[in-house]
Order: sequence, then structure tokens, then C-alpha cells
Amino acid sequence: MSDLVRKLKCLLVGVAILGRIAVSAQENTPSRAWENKALPPELRADSLIAAMTLDEKITLMHGVDPMPQKAYVGYVPGIPRLGIPSLHLADGRAGVGNDAIDVTLLPAPIAAASSWDPGLLEKFGEVLGREEWIKGTNVALAPSIDVVRVPEWGRTFESYGEDPYLNAQMAAAEIRGIQSAGPIADANMYLTMNQESNRFDQNSVVDDRTLHEIYLPPFAAAVQDGHVGTFMCAYVKTNGKYSCENPDLLITILRGQLKFDGWVMSDWGATHSAIPSAENGLDQEMPGSKYYGDSLKAAVTAGQVTMSVIDNHVRHILVPMFRQGIFDRAPSGSWTASARSPERDAFSREVAEKGTVLLKNAGHLLPLRKQTRVAILGVAGGASPKAEGGGSSGVVAPYKISPFDGIRNYAGKEADVTYSDGSDLKASAEVARAADVAIVFAQTDETEGSDRPNLSLPGNQDALIEAAAAVNRNTIVVLDTGGPVLMPWIDQVAGVVEAWYPGQEDGNAIAAILYGDFNPSAKLPLTFPRTATAIPTASPQQWPGVNGESAYSEQLDVGYRWYDATNTEPLFPFGFGLSYTVFELSHLVLTPATVHSQTGPARTQVMVKVDVRNTGDRDGAEVVQVYVEQPAQNGEPPRQLRAFARVPLRAGEKRTVSLGLDPHSFSIYDSSSQQWISPTGEYTVRVGTSSRDLPLSGKVGVKQ
Ligand code: BGC
Repeated sequence: MSDLVRKLKCLLVGVAILGRIAVSAQENTPSRAWENKALPPELRADSLIAAMTLDEKITLMHGVDPMPQKAYVGYVPGIPRLGIPSLHLADGRAGVGNDAIDVTLLPAPIAAASSWDPGLLEKFGEVLGREEWIKGTNVALAPSIDVVRVPEWGRTFESYGEDPYLNAQMAAAEIRGIQSAGPIADANMYLTMNQESNRFDQNSVVDDRTLHEIYLPPFAAAVQDGHVGTFMCAYVKTNGKYSCENPDLLITILRGQLKFDGWVMSDWGATHSAIPSAENGLDQEMPGSKYYGDSLKAAVTAGQVTMSVIDNHVRHILVPMFRQGIFDRAPSGSWTASARSPERDAFSREVAEKGTVLLKNAGHLLPLRKQTRVAILGVAGGASPKAEGGGSSGVVAPYKISPFDGIRNYAGKEADVTYSDGSDLKASAEVARAADVAIVFAQTDETEGSDRPNLSLPGNQDALIEAAAAVNRNTIVVLDTGGPVLMPWIDQVAGVVEAWYPGQEDGNAIAAILYGDFNPSAKLPLTFPRTATAIPTASPQQWPGVNGESAYSEQLDVGYRWYDATNTEPLFPFGFGLSYTVFELSHLVLTPATVHSQTGPARTQVMVKVDVRNTGDRDGAEVVQVYVEQPAQNGEPPRQLRAFARVPLRAGEKRTVSLGLDPHSFSIYDSSSQQWISPTGEYTVRVGTSSRDLPLSGKVGVKQ
């Protein structure tokens, strides 16, 4: 568009808006233009700001701690004089948090991400958003969208895994879902929140290119495809500056590059100052007013912070509130309302089924037959199901179906199902020996606030698995973990299933998988390493860090990128997952085969077409994955995920799938010019069903 046309367009829009204000001024109270629903959010915000006193502006810029009522986790009182509604903030990664009752416990987000199905994530967001809204929440603190850098990270279960592109797709989808159901979504935690060790002070030392290529894409997608209303700035520092007063992150990148126009609230207690925070981009302090109450007011009164800085912060808060209809709709519900429904219970089970990854199935032991005599071992199998992770994502489950109950219900009352909690290895081995199949449920306790000390299963669980496998060659391990674990017993067991933290429907979902009622289709969203040291962040300088600093020295080689770059064999690769049927990929076509080099925001340029056939005798779904290898001189990791699609196929069915490659497929981030560029050269596009199984390939040339 030429400059002249653009200017003319702006002029016309301006005239139209003024006309609408004039009409509204005649019809309504002229001074309360912000109440006019026909006006754009930006204009409504400006008219409201013009009517606000400094005290009222400051009221919006922080929470109230302690809160007047025992509900939610954050509260910003409304201002009745101006018709500004209160904000009620509640956590919600796997359901409404903060001790809310009568809500649905969904599977952990890492399970949802394992579906590789953005449609499922959108529904996940919708279900969560709906229940938050019923509970009276109008700002849902969800989702958590940081890329997993350290496999021991205590919040891995809250995430979507180790790949920026997969994360970006899932983040945008979940945010759209949440916001379609009422609340404003608050995507967290911005940025480089990649470990819990020393989380309130840790300094992530990371280069600019890595920041843009690995850690920012989910946040960029949250803005551009998710239209997220707010971000939560993280506890940690990035390159020496606290996230909530870091001008590089909050002003240069978030406002300048990503064009975010919503608000940034601090994580709980992550605000460290009044003036530097106000000057460097923090819009709202949470949960209280340590800095953004009297101190901020005094700074404004003393002329240390200008009113236009304050107005900008308030505008950032008001614009998404207007856009999301928080001013115009009836208020959301109440904390004491019941948010449950049979549909949402069923959805929790659907996510658990679609998120459970079948990792090993020797001799097609699975699916089981109903008459098989089954021994269930481990506390997570019976006495104490491991359905969720800990910390602020905790949910009061309305019920939890244990695997023992789920399996017994599925197989029928007459079925021979025995149980041993695993505390006495000898006794458990006897129970395992007496059955046709022994299923050991193993778990990790992951939580916000601490990283796992290492990647081994805690306690005697490895010994329990080995004891069962020693007496029963048909031993299957079901993992209820939030992230990868080491499997020293892998060659001794016949099967391994990663069920993650599966939510309230735990036992029903695992029974459906084990007996083949649901054909597993999930894929790992992160790599499982073979040994404790064969991981991208093995040195103490990288994790947990030395002298308060974590060196991101692996740079772009995060997750599978590192395994590929160093030729390290993983135990199970990123993107891997088995099915009870067999799929075949063929006929890869790339169009066009040549594209032009470009700078600036990239566009989709290449379409990938491929045939997928279910050659087995069961219905199922395959995830087609497309990875791009850049020319060596670009200095990128060997290959990177750039498109995927989950394709359901009936037995014998064939479909042709078309996927558009991510705009960044042929780009690198050039730090010196601060933009994406696409160097010329030959790029290889590989298509398959995991990062290590890519049978089809083609070339795309990038020319001047
Ligand atoms: C967590 C956030 C959470 C907040 C409020 C913090 O400790 O990091 O994710 O939203 O608490 O519960």
C-alpha cells in the first residue's frame, strides 16, 4: 500500500470515529464515551483515562493483598463511579485453581500438547475458560508457554514441551479457547522462566538470536494468533535485568517487535521497584501494592514518573478489558457456583486418551484382552493416583478414578485384577508372578518451586519395576510423570506407556488405552534421554547455574536440536509415539520448489503435500511431522519442526494432507539488523512421524 493511500485510509477511519462519537454524544452522556460499545476499545480507553484521577489510575495498576474475600488469587477492585468492573484473577493450567471446588481436573498441559492437536488445545482452553467464567474469574492465569530447556524443570508438566513451533501452535490455540469462553487469558511466564532452582533471583544469560528463535515464538504467537490480553512477567532475570523491569523484554521486544497492546502483570512478588518498573514497561503489580501503591503515587507527584507513562500503563489494562467485553457483558459468575458438567468430565477423559503416548510394545503385548489376569503395582496404580502436578496449577479434583478401578470397571467384575502398592518388593513380586501381565505405575512428584534433583524415578520405583520384570516377562510400565525419566530397566520390560498427569479420569483413560478401546496416537513433545548426562543442559553452569547465573551456552540446541547436533542417541526421540495400527507416508510434493529471499516478517511460502495411509486393521491417527534442514552456513540446528498435522484414519484409509510451512522455515534471526532474514541456499524438507523417523524428503531453493 502506498503511503498516500495509507494516510487517506487513516483519515477516513478518523472521520468515521469522530462521527460516531458525535452521534453517541447526542444520544448518550457525551462525557462517558467509554460506555459506547460501538467505539473501538482504544478510543473508549482514552476517553475513560481522561476522566480518571491519579488515585483511580493507580488503583488499576495493582492488586489488593490480602484480598477481601477468600477466593481467587488476585483482585483489583472496580471503580463504581466510572463503571469500571473489578478484576478477579484465578490460576488455571489444568482446571480452575486456588482451592476452587466443583471444577474439572483436566490432564496436565504436557499431556494435552502430546496430542499434537491444536483443535484439542482450543477446546481445552474453552473448557478451562468456561469454568473460570462460571467461577467469576475474568482474568484466567493461563496458559504457561515457556519452552522446556531443562528436563528436570519442576514446571515441565505445565508446559507444552521443548519445541518453539509446537509450543506456539498450542499456546495460540489454548488462548483463543480461553478468551472465547469469557475471561481474558494471561499467558505466563515472560521470559526465560526455565528452571525453579533459585527462581526468584536466577539470571538467565542468553544470546539475542537464541532468545528470538527459541524462547520468543510462543509469546509471539500468543500475541499474533492468540490475541492474548495479558502476559505475566517472570521471577527470573534475563541478561541481568529482572523480567518485570527489563526494557529489552518489555519495551523493545514486546511493544516494538511483537506489537503487543495488552498489559503486563508481574508474577506474584516479581515486582522489584516502582520507578524502574514503571519506566521499563510493567503495567500492573501483583498481588499487592508494595511498589505500585503509595510509592508510585509519590513518584508521580514528585514528577519522577510522568502522567503519560501512567496513562500508557492504564491504557494497556483497559484496552483488552474493553476488547474482551468485560465492561459490557453481565459480570462473570461466583466462586461458590458449581462449574462441573458431564460434557467436561468426558472431555477430561478425551484429553487423557489423546495425550497418552505408547513408547514400547514388544511382541504386541498390548492391547490386553479382558480375560488377561492383571497385577497392578505401585501407589499411583491404586491407593493414590498421580493425576496432577503441584504448585499454583493445583486443582481440587472432584474425583479421581484410580487405574485399579478403571481397569477393573473396564475388564468387568469377574476379571482377575490384583493389586500391590509396591512398598514391599517381595510381596509385590509375588503378586506380579501370579498374573499374566504386571502393570507397574510409576510416578514423579513435580511442582512449581523446585526442580527434580535428577531424572531418575524417585524412591524404590526402579527396583519395583525390576522386581516385577524379573518374575513376569509381560511387565508393562505406565509412567505418571510430568517430564522425562531414565529407564534403566527398559530392556527388561515389554511395554512402556507415558500417561503424564492424566487428570480426574486417570483410570478410565488408561484402561481405554491398555485394552485398545482407544488406539494411542500421542507423540512426545520432548526428548527422553538415555542417561543422566546425555542431555543438553548437563553442566552445572547451564543448570542449576553457578553464582546465580544459568548459562544458555547450548544456544539454539535446545531439546532434540541438541541430540541431532551432537549425534546423541535419545531413549525416545521428540515426536515419537506408537500406535496399534501401522501408517505409511508417500508421495511428498513441495510447491513451489524455489522461493525468493526476503527480510522482515516472513510469510508462508511453501506447501507440503503428502499421502498418509493406515495399512493396519484398526482405526487410528498419525501425526505427520515436517522438519526443515537449513544450509550449513546458516548456523542453525540440524533440523527443526515447521509443520505438523494429526490425521485420523480408518483402517485401510488413505488421505492426502496439505500443510503450510511455518513462515520461519527458511529464516534465521539476524541480531545485528534485528530482523528475520532468509539466506539463499538449498533447504531440505523432511517428512515423517518423529524427529528421528523422516523417510520422505525434498528440496526447496531460496534464491535472490
Ligand atoms: C506462579 C504463577 C501463578 C501465581 C499466582 C506464582 O507463584 O509462578 O504461575 O499464577 O503464583 O498463583
